[in-house]
Amino acid sequence: MSKRFTITAALPYTNGPIHIGHLAGVYVPADIYARYLRLQGHDVAFICGSDEHGVPITIKAKKEGVTPQDIVDHFHANIKMSFEEFGISFDNYSRTSAEIHHETASEFFKTLYHKGDFIEETTAQLYDAEAGQFLADRFVVGTCPKCGNEESYGDQCEACGTSHNATDLINPKSAITGATPSLKETKHWFLPLDKHEAFLKEWILEGHKADWKPNVYGQCKSWIDDGLRPRAVTRDLDWGIPVPVEGGDGKVLYVWFDAPIGYISSTKEWAQREGKDWEPYWKDKNTTLVHFIGKDNIVFHCIIFPAMLKAEGSYILPENVPANEFLNLEGQKLSTSKNWAVWLPEYLKDFPEKQDVLRYVLTATAPETKDNDFTWKDFQARNNNELVAIFGNFINRVLVLTNKYYDGIVPRPNALSVIDTDTLEKVKAYPGILSKSIERYRFREASQELMNLARLGNKYLADEEPWKVVKTDPERVQTIMYIALQISAALAVVCEPFLPWSSTKLKSMLQLHPHSWAAVERGEKLLEPDHQIGKAELLFAKIEDSEIEKQLEKLAQSKLANTIANAVVEPQKETISFEDFSKLDIRVGTIIAAEKMPKAKKLLVLQVDTGIDVRTIVSGIAESFTAEEVLGKRVTVLVNLAPRALRGVESQGMILMTETPEGKLVFVNPDAAHETTNGLKIS
Ligand code: MF3
Ligand code: ZN
Repeated sequence: MSKRFTITAALPYTNGPIHIGHLAGVYVPADIYARYLRLQGHDVAFICGSDEHGVPITIKAKKEGVTPQDIVDHFHANIKMSFEEFGISFDNYSRTSAEIHHETASEFFKTLYHKGDFIEETTAQLYDAEAGQFLADRFVVGTCPKCGNEESYGDQCEACGTSHNATDLINPKSAITGATPSLKETKHWFLPLDKHEAFLKEWILEGHKADWKPNVYGQCKSWIDDGLRPRAVTRDLDWGIPVPVEGGDGKVLYVWFDAPIGYISSTKEWAQREGKDWEPYWKDKNTTLVHFIGKDNIVFHCIIFPAMLKAEGSYILPENVPANEFLNLEGQKLSTSKNWAVWLPEYLKDFPEKQDVLRYVLTATAPETKDNDFTWKDFQARNNNELVAIFGNFINRVLVLTNKYYDGIVPRPNALSVIDTDTLEKVKAYPGILSKSIERYRFREASQELMNLARLGNKYLADEEPWKVVKTDPERVQTIMYIALQISAALAVVCEPFLPWSSTKLKSMLQLHPHSWAAVERGEKLLEPDHQIGKAELLFAKIEDSEIEKQLEKLAQSKLANTIANAVVEPQKETISFEDFSKLDIRVGTIIAAEKMPKAKKLLVLQVDTGIDVRTIVSGIAESFTAEEVLGKRVTVLVNLAPRALRGVESQGMILMTETPEGKLVFVNPDAAHETTNGLKIS
């Protein structure tokens, strides 16, 4: 029976492009789910849009000397375009600066306001007198009261995921001026979460213990157990949706109040365009609402937004919130500011027509139950060993042989063997297997089952060997190829949610008419005998080492750029006179013997020929160089430094060393013009 589904994917912040972390955590699983439901014949609204308010956007605009609107206009276009090119099948992609959203969010606020669902209170909030501004959310950084992370934001700690009030921070500092904020009174509206505690307990802790993912349920439980407190839903900022009630001048709605309402406004925008009624998608008890999000969004989607919806009274609540954990890249946390990411627009440029490869890899390694790691080597291996060697190889053999033996016409089968009927039975079972995984939000498991269907096809061909049998029993080969073609067609249908681009390509190669998921499940004939198929084209192409090296090189560049950006250049020391300088006797020498100082990690004992004499110098470079490496090196030596005993060995001078921007110790080399950088310290 066809059911109605409203599927939402977290509205991305509009201050940067989409990267693989967003895709793996939210958009790929949500898209698989939405496509799967559509294939099942359900009525689906797959909803998203840009989250354009919030402090990070203001901060970025300030830094770049443009308006917040400039920032969101730029990234909204960028994000929307890359989702489209990647094939995320949103029914609508809206934005929270749209008029329809401002209206919807204002109305929502006013409804709660008039029902008396807010507490209106004047409290002391953090204020930066220097900037003349209240410090909400990301305008303030301090120590998290829960986990001790020293870089927690005012509204949320990224280390432990807790969401708190800015005044809870220990040792807060303004992110604008660095100043320690003072307290200043201001009026705000609070959503009394404590009043919704009983309902939340019953709805989540009792109602969803069994069907919500353990990571989601666990987070909710810990918040509820900690005790819920009123949360301010307005801010003293100038970027956002103006507070639409008396006394709201100069204040805006908290971004986390307006953004989830963005799902509703985006649905309205879609319904208007399609000539539909939006309300059943949000208010009909028979509609299933599912929110796809990352783990840092759990509290907002499981506690705060449901409390808002419940308070309003006419809305349904989410059936499930299948939040994912985080994806790392090459063993390191993704970071926009450190440019440690694979950006979608860049991927689409570097790997044109390989959307499905990234979709597949991100699904196969999805951070569903724990954080996971994306590596370029794994990306290459999954493409070459799975998509190319299993899926692609099977399809290619079927198409090539059908064209070769029958000019591309599907042969008539003869009597089926036990293996044939067994194989068809197994194929028929796959839609059910996949459904079971998908409906439990186990997309990773589902992607592996999909590959198993391709494996089944490969094994069938390998066992039946039509290329051999053709010489002795052409009638049998007709049957083998007929069955192999049915498997190919089944793959074309059921791979669509996972590999939509390849599904389209394969369907066109097979000239396959549209079939539903259920048709495969019922074991219907998907390709009739005498049906003409098209030419074989490559479904997946091998990815060469050089392409992977190019990506790794890009990451190495990011790393280098970061070390340089973070290198601390020590301030200049006090001025010295020329007389002082001329006291230094600096000469060029050669290291003619070197050995490690016993039991001293850092020290090498060197014999240096200075031209005047051969002398002993003890140098603290053993962590950077071995004795063998420095032997024979020409070095710059300060020869008239007062001798000093180090571990009982008298050092008679100093080798001049310096540091590269990456923090590597190098010799002040008298011969080569090596890459020194300004501001280096001689040590
Ligand atoms: N912009 C938020 C983030 O990227 C997600 C907002 S989801 C919504 O973390 F529900 F508020 F829309
Ligand atoms: Zn914390």
